[in-house]
Formats: sequence, structure tokens, C-alpha cells
Amino acid sequence: MAFVNEHYLKLSAGYLFPEIARRVAAFAAERPDVAREIIRCGIGDVTEALPQCAVQAMHQATDELADRATFKGYGPGSGYDSVRGAIAQGDFRSRGLDVADDEIFLSDGSKGDCGSILEILGAGNRLAVTDPVYPVYVDANVMFGNAGAAMAGGGYEGITYLACHEANGFLADVPSDDATDASGARVPAPDVIYLCSPNNPTGTVMDRARLTAWVAYARKHRALLFWDAAYEAYNRDADAPRSVYEIPGARDCAIEFRSFSKSGGFTGVRCGYTVLPKSVMAYTRAGVAVALHPLWMRRWNTRSNGVSYAVQRAAESLYSAEGRAQVGALVDFYMENARILREGAMQLGWKTWGGENAPYVWCKTPAGYDSWQFFDRLLREARVVTTPGAGFGRCGEGYFRISAFNSRANVEEVVRRLGNLQRSEQLQALEPV
Ligand code: MLT
Repeated sequence: MAFVNEHYLKLSAGYLFPEIARRVAAFAAERPDVAREIIRCGIGDVTEALPQCAVQAMHQATDELADRATFKGYGPGSGYDSVRGAIAQGDFRSRGLDVADDEIFLSDGSKGDCGSILEILGAGNRLAVTDPVYPVYVDANVMFGNAGAAMAGGGYEGITYLACHEANGFLADVPSDDATDASGARVPAPDVIYLCSPNNPTGTVMDRARLTAWVAYARKHRALLFWDAAYEAYNRDADAPRSVYEIPGARDCAIEFRSFSKSGGFTGVRCGYTVLPKSVMAYTRAGVAVALHPLWMRRWNTRSNGVSYAVQRAAESLYSAEGRAQVGALVDFYMENARILREGAMQLGWKTWGGENAPYVWCKTPAGYDSWQFFDRLLREARVVTTPGAGFGRCGEGYFRISAFNSRANVEEVVRRLGNLQRSEQLQALEPV
């Protein structure tokens, strides 16, 4: 008899983005006359062509593969040395940060890494996540058995949710060591903490002082910080760290996840990487410190033959002078979209966050609507797909996210349609907050 991983049975609902796609498909089937008008600003999927440098690098790699003399078979599980070197130099050492080439591990994207990193940790680590949160962190931990039952109203038992709300600027506060739960019991310090900045979904960025406090907290409690920097290229705030390794001490407690999806437009190409410093430790039950770097290396060499050769070459090309310029232009394009969306929403009187250092604009739903209701309203009446905040956690209720990944024409059309909806008789009855 084959046994199932029963942790999967705890998952409370389908993954957020397929649920959105299901609702959009149902609406399109119901209203085929307007289906072509639907503009998708839900999932953060890029729309513009790949940077030319990446296209050329893939063509060249294909030519090499077509020639017996330059053909490549299996590559190193954690990536070719030249690619790891370009990343370590380009993203870290050129900014004064101490990261060695062999501390870079390439993968098919940071979504997978955020979950598969759990394979080298023991069972039963106490997880802390922000609320709202990118749902992958939570679902992956539920699948690995690091959570209890789903709770009525959202979330899972056994996970520490770090409430992010208007009062703290949607930024996670370091928990107090004396925190107690509703029954008065002391809440144990988390062992693993996921932080994402620039943040998905709220678009906010974590300042240096707050991240410094998080690093101190992790070191004090011998916890691990998982720093998701997938949107780092969008960060324009000089005070907001672009890498966790800007903070002294982070090399002892932090693992950083990066992605080329949003910087190089690689959502379909698939490439990202993890930075795992050799000084990061976790502990045996007997309290013996164990370096995680060799375990992660071992894991890659056993579980994978790495990222495809052509894709690695494309990723490497992003670090050339022309590659940097092309990535910069792509990011600038989406950031201009974000500005148009943010200012458009603000002109309608909607309270907004994000959009200045991230490709996401986080808005408060008009009074009288929960976030799924407003999602449905925007879909049906404006033919605009957004992401309801409730899909990111309890504290996301009452908000929605607009993605800036779209064509300029579509973004301008979204602002026009939201304005029409706002001015329409039905929405006039609603007081924007
Ligand atoms: C999002 O829309 O939150 C992201 O596109 C999801 C992802 O990067 O996996």
C-alpha cells in the first residue's frame, strides 16, 4: 500500500493564481462578447520581449549544442562556474558585499528554491511569515509538515503570522520575546522567518534599521532568515537594502533568493539562484552546529543536473554592459507602468501603497466590499483582473493588488476603465476610502 503525504490534505484551498484564472475563464465563457477586452493585471507575469542580449546568448548556445566540438552534456548541478562568477561579482562583490562564486546556486527560479530549501532543514521548525504573504512560503511549509491544521478564516495552526497593516506601513515588526497568545502562553521564537523586499504583494520595501533588527533577532535565536529579493531590481530607495548581506552578521543567519523572472523577463525562460554563505548554520537536536552550504550542494548534486545550458548563458548575458542597460530599460518600463497605475488609483481617491520601489500597487478596496467581491466587480464591470488581498492572508482582506506587468496601452486603459467605474452610478454610491 502506498501512503500519501497527508500534509497535502491540510492545504486549505487551491493555489491563489489558478483560482483567479478559474474565475476569469468562467467569466470569459459566460461573456464571450467581452472576453477579448479582459486586461490581466493579476499574476505578476511579464509581457515584454526578452532583452536582446539574452536572445542572442540563447541562439549562440543553440549553435554550440548543434556542433559536436562545442556540444555540452550534463553541467554542474549548481551552475556553470562562469555564470556563478558573473552573478557573485555583478550582484554582490561589485557592491562591496562578500559573496563567493561557490555560494551561488542556480535553479529554475526562486519559487522552487523557497520551498526546496526546507529539504535540508529538520522537521518541525517553527515558521514565521508576514501577513499578507506570497502564498508559496506557507503552502510549501504545509506540504513539508511545518504547520498544523488550517484555521477557520485563514492561516494554519503552528505558524507565526507577522501582521503587516497600515499602522506599521505593511512592514513586519520583530516579535517581542515576551509575546503571548490568546491563552496567555508564551509564543516560541520562530526558527525560520521569510521576509520579502521589495514586498510581494504590498510593494513596500524594508528599511535598513528594521532589517538590522531582524538580523540581530535571528542571530540571538539561532534562527534562519530567508530573504526573498526577487524584486530587488525595482528597489530605488537608497535606504532600503537590496541584499540582506548589506547588514553585518547576515552571513551567519541569512539565505537570499533571487530571480531573473522580473529583472530579465525570465518568467517563461526560468532561472533564479540562491545565495548560501558557507557560514550559515543550523543545529542538530543535540545542539551541534552544522553548516548548510555542503548540505545544499549535496542536495543539488543528487536532485538535479542544473539549469539548461542555453538558459544559463542567457542569465550570464544580463551581466554584460549591454545586458545591464537592457535590464535597466525593461525595469524602467514596468516602473513607469507602476507610476501610472499608482497615480491613477490615487486620483480616484483610493489609498495606495507600493508602486514606487516595486511593480505592484496595493490598494484599499472601497467601503462595502471585501477583496474577492471587489475583484469580481472589477472583472465584470471593468474587465480588469487584479489580485484580491485576502488571497495573501487575513491581513490582506480589504485590499487588492494591481500588477504593473503589462503593455503601456493596457495600463493606460486600466486607469481609464477604473475611472469610468468610479464615476459610474453604481460606484458613486460607494465611498472610496
Ligand atoms: C505573483 O504574481 O505574485 C508572482 O508572479 C508569483 C510568482 O512570482 O510566482
